[in-house]
Amino acid sequence: MFRVAAFILTAVLAVVVNGQISPSCTRTYTVQPHDFCDLISAKENVSTYQLATVNSGIINADCTNIFAGEVLCLGLQGQDCTQVSVVQPTGDSCTSIASAAGIDITTLLDNNPNVNTDCTNIFPGEVLCVAPTSTSN
Ligand SMILES: *[C@@H]1O[C@H](CO)[C@@H](O)[C@H](O)[C@H]1NC(C)=O
Repeated sequence: MFRVAAFILTAVLAVVVNGQISPSCTRTYTVQPHDFCDLISAKENVSTYQLATVNSGIINADCTNIFAGEVLCLGLQGQDCTQVSVVQPTGDSCTSIASAAGIDITTLLDNNPNVNTDCTNIFPGEVLCVAPTSTSN
């Protein structure tokens, strides 16, 4: 819990400095017409959780306020998960996703704090971090 809170705080402070992209930002992305958050996540290999938290002061909860030409930060130094898996419409579960990635459920849940312990709240199109170690996010 503390790590999550600390990450969110770090992300907010790091990104919302005079509206500039933080120097600790490892990669940026310019929003294209018709983009939506999970599409950006899938295209750029950034988890749904990470995109939201890194841009928590900028992108609203439903991701309805992004606009073409806007520059977003995708990851922060030391906290950037680049190995991801997109939840498929049929049959995907934390077990199948973890298994396909060759990681255990604990690591999967650790790297995706938005997913509940029973993994009942994942949804098709959601992008999960499947890194083999904790990405400290
Ligand atoms: C995303 O990851 C896939 C699989 O590793 C890779 O082929 C692709 O080039 C990556 N895309 C970007 C934008 O990094």
